[in-house]
Amino acid sequence: RSREYRHYSQAHCREYNQCMKRAMPAGRQGFFIVFEGGEGAGKSVQASLLVAKLRAQGHAVVVTREPGGTRIGEQIRAITHNPENVDLDARAEAYLMAASRAQHVAEIIAPALSDGRIVVCDRFVDSTIAYQGYGRGLGPDVIARLNELAVNGAKPDLTFFLNVPVEVGLARREGSVKKDRMDLQEKEFYTRVHEGYLTLAKTSPARYVVIDATASVEEIASDIWKIIEETVRVRNGKNS
Ligand code: TMP
Repeated sequence: RSREYRHYSQAHCREYNQCMKRAMPAGRQGFFIVFEGGEGAGKSVQASLLVAKLRAQGHAVVVTREPGGTRIGEQIRAITHNPENVDLDARAEAYLMAASRAQHVAEIIAPALSDGRIVVCDRFVDSTIAYQGYGRGLGPDVIARLNELAVNGAKPDLTFFLNVPVEVGLARREGSVKKDRMDLQEKEFYTRVHEGYLTLAKTSPARYVVIDATASVEEIASDIWKIIEETVRVRNGKNS
């Protein structure tokens, strides 16, 4: 009977530890990189180039995006991006972005970081602060508070803001992709989003890197790689 009890207790501990690992991103070993930027900034291209380089060096990398990144998150994305949903309320939009994020953190980001992987994510909380906080005018603080529950402690170690003037970004998008609901806003909306990002970069200089995204794809990739190498060097230096 005591053996049975011990058996139960070990299994229970294993399960408990697993849960605790997921619930406590602060104790993680991984590294969380986020790409942010307005429309046509080239985030997705740069995210894939970075992931390829990291993998070539033998790193375990998870690449993902928001809204989406999970089966449920992609269903939420279908709602937020559907051009028929012109009547989607700004607050409902903010909650949908946060709901997609909560699922994403629980299912993908926190477990990957606990396993020591590098997570490269196309957009995270700062997108909601920029688009719903500044763009829709809900305000940055209320959006930051709204997201506390969703992220459950997960925080980017490094955020690349790919900075392009609004006109340049919109011109790049013009004609190149199928227009979704988020592509159909007035120019002033994207200007507020852009200003929001610049404010975020100013207020979180430790984790924000502003990249001039008007340069060529190769130049941008090389700027990003330099920062990654420097970050790894500093980290290793700290750890040794
Ligand atoms: P993208 O995947 O092409 O960058 O499109 C995502 C769109 O969704 C983009 O217009 C930004 C918008 N968005 C928000 O408005 N709030 C958010 O929290 C996120 C993650 C994206």
